Amino acid sequence: MEVIIMKNREAATTLTAKLIAAKVKSKPSCVLGMATGRTMEEVYDMIVAMNLDFSSVTTFNLDEYIGLEGTNKNSYRYYMNENLFKKINIKLYNTYLPNGMAKNMKEECEKYERLISDHGGIDIQLLGLGKSGHIGFNEPLSSLFSRTREKALTQTTIDQNSGLFDKPQDMPKRALTMGVGTILEAKKILMLATGKDKAEILAKAVEGPITSMISATALQLHPSCTVICDEEAASDLKEKAYYRWIFQNEPEWQPYR
Ligand code: GLP
Repeated sequence: MEVIIMKNREAATTLTAKLIAAKVKSKPSCVLGMATGRTMEEVYDMIVAMNLDFSSVTTFNLDEYIGLEGTNKNSYRYYMNENLFKKINIKLYNTYLPNGMAKNMKEECEKYERLISDHGGIDIQLLGLGKSGHIGFNEPLSSLFSRTREKALTQTTIDQNSGLFDKPQDMPKRALTMGVGTILEAKKILMLATGKDKAEILAKAVEGPITSMISATALQLHPSCTVICDEEAASDLKEKAYYRWIFQNEPEWQPYR
């Protein structure tokens, strides 16, 4: 794992968008793992502004609420269509999310796993960080080997996301999510965390012991995971000086400094 601390949210978001853009340019038929949440909205705005060619790109989203149609403005399908897919030249049939309206959830999850592997796996998986330490909707105690499945949401997650619903009580209490094991199979992982609200959980995720209580700690096991954050989100990290040194000195980061 490496941690890149940028001076503010805009710089952290820009770096994330540039890394995605570099993949789309170097491999036009790449498979991208997408995330939702407020943090990603600006990433998608920047990607749209870059005017890239997405005509051969395939995407798989991490998760979807159970019980929301794709036309519901709180569904992640709606979020992706509005924030990204409608604004780029991606073919909508190449964009996948788990179907939260499926009749048989278990079959839907197995199908999703099969689709990912039939596409050769995910080249870059984008991740946000939930306040409960979740990635996707892998709430505390999610097995580090878990696969795409149905998950009950914690009160922390409900409190974090229900404000986005017109009636907070309408937020579904269950979701379909890629498992921690599914996420760890991505060839490259980019996690973006910004703002003071994420400082405590980010420090636990990056520098704390690996535990299923905080599924983001499993990213420490991944051979190629980059965590991008701003100064605020980085404020509880202990090894900031080392992380800064890496960004300033490693040749890999030279084009982005
Ligand atoms: C939801 C998503 C997560 C995302 C999190 C962060 O819970 N399921 O994948 O990382 O939101 O949200 P935000 O960016 O709004 O803090």
